Amino acid sequence: SILEMEVEQINKGHYEHYMQKEIHEQPESLTTTMRGRLIRRGSSKSKSVLLGGLKDHLKTIRRSRRIVFIGCGTSYNAALAARPILEELSGIPVSMEIASDLLDRQGPIYREDTAVFVSQSGETADTLLALQYALENGALCVGITNTVGSAIARKTHCGIHINAGAEIGVASTKAYTSQIVVMAMLALAIGGDTISNQARREAIVDGLYDLPNKVREVLKLDQEMKDLAQLLIAEQSLLVFGRSYNYATALEGALKVKEVALMHSEGILAGEMKHGPLALVDENLPIVVIATRDACFSKQQSVIQQLHARKGRLIVMCSKGDATSVCPGESCRSIEVPQVEDCLQPVINVVPLQLLAYHLTVLRGFNVDQPRNLAKSTVIK
Ligand code: G6P
Repeated sequence: SILEMEVEQINKGHYEHYMQKEIHEQPESLTTTMRGRLIRRGSSKSKSVLLGGLKDHLKTIRRSRRIVFIGCGTSYNAALAARPILEELSGIPVSMEIASDLLDRQGPIYREDTAVFVSQSGETADTLLALQYALENGALCVGITNTVGSAIARKTHCGIHINAGAEIGVASTKAYTSQIVVMAMLALAIGGDTISNQARREAIVDGLYDLPNKVREVLKLDQEMKDLAQLLIAEQSLLVFGRSYNYATALEGALKVKEVALMHSEGILAGEMKHGPLALVDENLPIVVIATRDACFSKQQSVIQQLHARKGRLIVMCSKGDATSVCPGESCRSIEVPQVEDCLQPVINVVPLQLLAYHLTVLRGFNVDQPRNLAKSTVIK
């Protein structure tokens, strides 16, 4: 009806689509996610996090033999982005499960496991069934959802709400970045305060405080991403190479492009380049390589060199100031992003890819907020 259309326009504010609005409101949604949870008192010693929903279970989590992340789609990717920092700060092995695959295999879940269920809606059928399965197997179950009162929030033993605000676009954007931030805070909470990781912990807390500003900065790439989308509008396929912290960014960037722009796209673990993907490289196929500064930077530089040697059509995402040194030739395009603490870099790096997917979709004339054949929430029917 006309009324419904008017209400929708009010909800979208001055944006044309929900996805666009949700991408641009990430500085605010991240602020809400962190509100009241970061502690930074005068002296640097007291930098830490406070996650009310977990405090009675932290001891049990710290004693667990393994942490298993379970989710689907974007929520799975968010957990994958947080995995390295959780491993580093907790010292506990972290494994990853796509909910449907865990169920298909009836994979082992033990009483000594902490199973973390990540879901924006809190209602995804496969994730919910995996939760039932983990409960039956006696694991401690933790929920990370965006929906208070959702099935996953109710049925887990404890949890953290991401508080990103309602997400309406079918393709998840602001929930993804808030999920990563919550899981980084989870890593800080589980890791506790040992002397050996004090400097690292403080750098992460400082990085979290500053993250909304850095996201505001990277959002300024909007026009640049629109120009890039214009260039890629008629392509059949787009590859995205990433590794370590940004393997998840590669998967999530490719997922955005395929789900909304309806263009084939694949996220590739750069370390696997020689084991297949290299055969695809020619002068036509566009390839995004994520090469922001972290411990794997020099490995990514060598990946860029090898792709360039095969005449790959490169778009390099790098840290501010690195474009000229990282780009191998005239034909290489760059996307310069602000540098943040390595484990938070995936929050920054996904934003230009969200913008690219958005603009590609609009330019190709597809429905951004309700992509063909997809649903916001795949609930039990
Ligand atoms: C659907 C949505 C995706 C989402 C996935 C998991 O496929 O289209 O955007 O990532 O479900 O949903 P959840 O609510 O569990 O995060």
